Order: sequence, then C-alpha cells, then structure tokens
Amino acid sequence: MNSMLFSPLTIRGVTLKNRIVLSPMLQYCANNGHVNDWHLMHYGKYAAGGTGLVFVESTKVDPRGCSTPRDLGMWKDDFVAPMKRITDLVRSAGAVPALQLGHSGRKARRSVPWEGRAPMANAPGVDHGEEWELIAPSAIAFNERYATPRAMTHDDLQEAISNWGQAARRAHEAGFDVLEIHGAHGYLLHQFLSPVANQRTDEFGGTPEKRMKFPIEVVREVRKYWPDEKPLFLRVSAVDEAGWTTDDSSAVARVLKQHGVDVIDCSAGGMSDASTGDGPPKYGYQVEYAKRIREGADIKTMAVGLIIHADQAEEVLRSGSADLVALGRELLHNPNWPIDAAQKLGVESPFSNVGASLGYWLGKRAANREGIKPSTWQRGINAGG
Ligand SMILES: Cc1cc2nc3c(=O)[nH]c(=O)nc-3n(C[C@H](O)[C@H](O)[C@H](O)COP(=O)(O)O)c2cc1C
Repeated sequence: MNSMLFSPLTIRGVTLKNRIVLSPMLQYCANNGHVNDWHLMHYGKYAAGGTGLVFVESTKVDPRGCSTPRDLGMWKDDFVAPMKRITDLVRSAGAVPALQLGHSGRKARRSVPWEGRAPMANAPGVDHGEEWELIAPSAIAFNERYATPRAMTHDDLQEAISNWGQAARRAHEAGFDVLEIHGAHGYLLHQFLSPVANQRTDEFGGTPEKRMKFPIEVVREVRKYWPDEKPLFLRVSAVDEAGWTTDDSSAVARVLKQHGVDVIDCSAGGMSDASTGDGPPKYGYQVEYAKRIREGADIKTMAVGLIIHADQAEEVLRSGSADLVALGRELLHNPNWPIDAAQKLGVESPFSNVGASLGYWLGKRAANREGIKPSTWQRGINAGG
C-alpha cells in the first residue's frame, strides 16, 4: 500500500522520513534543568522505533517559567553540550531531533503530576535556588489555588523576548533541526493571547492584534537565531475553555506564518481546569481543529490527541486534516508503534523505518512467523511440558 503516514515530508531544508511525530512530553526528571541518562534512553527509543520526528519535551527559556522543579532548561549555554548528546543519538537512529521551548508564566511552580500537580506556595528557584517569582501579562491568578503573578514590565517583556531568541540559538547549537514554540495549554504565550489572562492596557493588551504582539515579537526574535533552512512549529490551543475559537487560532496562524512559522501543532485547552469537550475525549478529538486551521490559514498542521490506530493516523492525513500526526501516550505505551503501524498498513518494506540490524531481524521474525502453523506452537508447549 502507498501509505501517506510513511511518505516523507520536506519542510524548508529538513526532510522527515515519515509523518509520525513523538509529541512533546515532559519527563519531570531533570535536575536544575539538566539532561540526564533517562532523557537519552527515553528519546533514543522512539528514534530506534521508527518515529520520524522526535520532540524533546517543553524546555524552558527562563527558570521562572518552569512548570515544575524537574523541567529541562535552555536558559544558559551550559545546557547545550548535554542536549547535543540527545540530538546525536536521535539522529544516529534515523530520526530528526526536535525541541519544544516553553515558559509557563502564571502556571509555573507546581509539583510534578504524581505529587498532585499542585501550585507550590514557595520553592527554591530551579537554577540555583534563587527566589522563584511568577510573571505573567497581568496580575491575575490562574485560579484561587494559584499565587497571583507579577504583571510583566516593559523591561521584563524585552528580557523575555530575548530569552526566547537565545534559547533558539542554543537549540540550533545543540543540533536540533526542528523547533516548536509552546503557545498552548494556558502557558505564557497563550496567556498573552487570551483576554481572560491578558488585561494589559499598553500595546501588548486590548484588541486581538495587541494581544498578538508578544507572540509576534517572540517568533521574530526566534527567527533571528533559528536558521532559515530549519522549520519552526507553533503549538496552539486551537480552542480553550474561555471562549477562544479555531477562527481566533487561524487568525494567529495567518499572521505568524508571515513571520516564519511553518506548522501549527493543534492542541487545546489549559486556560482553566474545565474541559474543552463534553465527557471523556474521543479518538482524534482535536483532529477537526487541525483541519479547520489548515484550511483557515493555508498552513501545514500537526494533529494530536488520542490518535491510536495506524489506519486512524493514515485517515487524518488522507482526509487533508493535517500534514503530520503526533502521538503522545500511545508512543509511551509502545515506542515501536511505527513498526507495528507499517505492518498493519501493508507498507512495502515495513522494517525499513528502523536501523539495518533491527530491521533485518524483525523481517526474518515476520517471515518465520508466516511459516509457522498454530499447531506447531501447541506441540511445542506439549513437548516442553
Ligand atoms: C506525560 C505527558 C507530558 C506532557 N508534556 C507536554 C509538553 O511538554 N508539552 C506539550 O505541549 N504537551 C505536553 N503533553 C501533551 C501531549 O503532547 C499531547 O498533546 C497529549 O498527551 C495528547 O496526545 P495523546 O492523546 O496522543 O497522548 C504531555 C502529555 C503527557 C501525557
């Protein structure tokens, strides 16, 4: 079968061997922002399993922007060499290494999920134990359980914009080929876009155009340091619980495309604890958003959210809903998902997505299994017993 999922995609100067993406997922196991062996093992296994584009988790441009004390950092040059170990490993296993950069704004300083993801009243700063201050567009808490952030001054804004650019420079130096700006889930960029979180009266707040100013400045600064031949993605909450719509997202996408964003990664929610849908999420619950933004802004999109099955992923692409398919929890469950998907879709040479040695043995295993009759297994058990 001629699979779209397993067809290459070139964006600017970077070619992905297939359309399968590891969605950015925090590992919550960094110490003072630093990469460790867990990250190497973790990201390496998706590359080895045939995923075309491997995203390293939301990595913070400022220690104050860490969601938890265990987030990864890109706020200083010390982080470049350890990160390069990940990009070297991922590339050597045949995948393209990608990095998501983030800043959590008023949603920073929380405990890790298995400790309740609770806002922490006080905690030593992630970098060297300095005071961990929350900053945001306006002095409005996420909800009553959260601390009220300090509204960013003009100097803070200039510093924040510069932090994004410097982190992009480091990402390039560390060998990443794709960069994503995290503009979703109620974090700093989303806070600027939302009239609920952004009630500034200067040129960074008010009308939709003014609320877009900070994200535009961030994208422009990132593009100064992120080479032209490398793609830039933006993750958005296509819709949120506070009235944001796919039309709003398409408007943002149309503007940011002009400033060098190539792909909109379409997630949702995060502006409150409420859910964006009715009841538990369904298969592909955000795919429709990717389709609307793709059509509304004439830009490439990435779909994400309960994309589980190979034929489901294939259909997302065939229906023109998205150009890339990102998987989160399903890849956590099965890092070899692409190998399985290629066989289920009847792709010719299904093991060509992984390294030669693994591909060779998996190919032999598949051929041998075709020749085995079910009764052989039964006899084997009996003979052994
Ligand atoms: C453990 C975990 C960590 C996550 N961390 C991030 C993150 O760093 N950045 C982000 O944009 N989304 C993050 N997400 C959201 C995922 O990228 C993805 O959008 C979401 O899980 C839905 O996709 P799925 O149904 O395939 O898991 C995280 C999700 C999980 C489960």
